[in-house]
Amino acid sequence: IRALILVGGYGTRLRPLTLSRPKPLVEFANKPMLIHQIEALVEVGVTEVVLAVSYRAQEMENDLSEEAKKLGVNLIFSHETEPLGTAGPLALASKILSENDEPFFVLNSDIICDFPFKEMIIFHKNHGREGTICVTRVEEPSKYGVVLYDDDGCIKDFIEKPQEFVSNKINAGMYIFNVSILKRIKLQPTSIEKEVFPDMAKERQLFALEFQGFWMDVGQPRDFLTGMCLYLSSLRQKKSEKLMDQDGVIGNVIIDPTARIGRDCKIGPNVIIGPNVIIEDGVCIRRSTILRESIIKSHSWLDSCIIGWRCVIGRWVRLENNTVLGEDVIVKDEIYINGGQVLPHKNIASSVPEPQIIM
Ligand code: GDD
Ligand code: MG
Repeated sequence: IRALILVGGYGTRLRPLTLSRPKPLVEFANKPMLIHQIEALVEVGVTEVVLAVSYRAQEMENDLSEEAKKLGVNLIFSHETEPLGTAGPLALASKILSENDEPFFVLNSDIICDFPFKEMIIFHKNHGREGTICVTRVEEPSKYGVVLYDDDGCIKDFIEKPQEFVSNKINAGMYIFNVSILKRIKLQPTSIEKEVFPDMAKERQLFALEFQGFWMDVGQPRDFLTGMCLYLSSLRQKKSEKLMDQDGVIGNVIIDPTARIGRDCKIGPNVIIGPNVIIEDGVCIRRSTILRESIIKSHSWLDSCIIGWRCVIGRWVRLENNTVLGEDVIVKDEIYINGGQVLPHKNIASSVPEPQIIM
């Protein structure tokens, strides 16, 4: 069984992190987002994954080919010369996707959940129509694609980013399609949500699968942190060994084994610390992700932050309110940042009391 993952798109909403790495390679819980998905696909027997890339393809190839080998999955890079949207990439890869008559998965690359791939396969076989869309419930449906369907799951309508409230059941960004969907899609920039799903719904060819458990599109900083908390509590439910249990650690926390934590720190709840990170003495961190090789000097205090790769945070620094530091940012001692988005390679020498982008 095959899968196609949509890894194009500019990831602008996850800046400044995506100025250094394409969104699918940004680490969520110390693993590129995309690897979470590929691992779950491999578990249900997927052997071939098409990555639909529209830019920074080389970086993706370099970073992922080794990982793919480890997982025993064949990665095929399908390069777009211009961004083809969310449907066009299927047309571009149509030869591979239709090599046999088996249904295939299509995924957005920025979602994190307990991937219900097994259920999807069974559900899709049972209803026998052209497509299955996974559906979840959210509080703010206007950011997503809203799905309207009957009690048996047959989709009546699909409305991408509705202006007015119609339902809170939304497209979770995971699909299974029969090969026959390819006849509907031309090799040109096309939105599957706006141009393909509504027609399929009219023909009653699309079914909705509601699945259990947490779900989050982690393509923007605020949601990335919310998704991190949900992911960590799902690990707790599963009694995962990834969660730390040691002095100075509170609640659900992951610390890479190569990271070093000083004395008298308070780490947690809801913290993920990446490889080779150094946390000096007396540091407090809550609800944050610290990416690889960053240094947090003594007595600093972080709440709801994403700290990019190789940053250096001085002593007695206070960072909060969805502050995101790009790669290699240096924050001087005693600085306060409230909701700052700091571009890569910056040196912060004065405080940022109000949310803003620092270039
Ligand atoms: N190859 C390729 N080419 N991929 C693309 C392109 C492109 O031109 N444009 C976007 N993508 C990829 C993105 O990388 C992402 O994985 C996926 O397509 C969806 O794009 P987003 O930009 O993240 O869309 P969204 O979050 O606003 O909305 C989508 O996801 C929601 C769930 O998270 C829609 O599918 C909604 O209906 C859905 O609810
Ligand atoms: Mg998204």
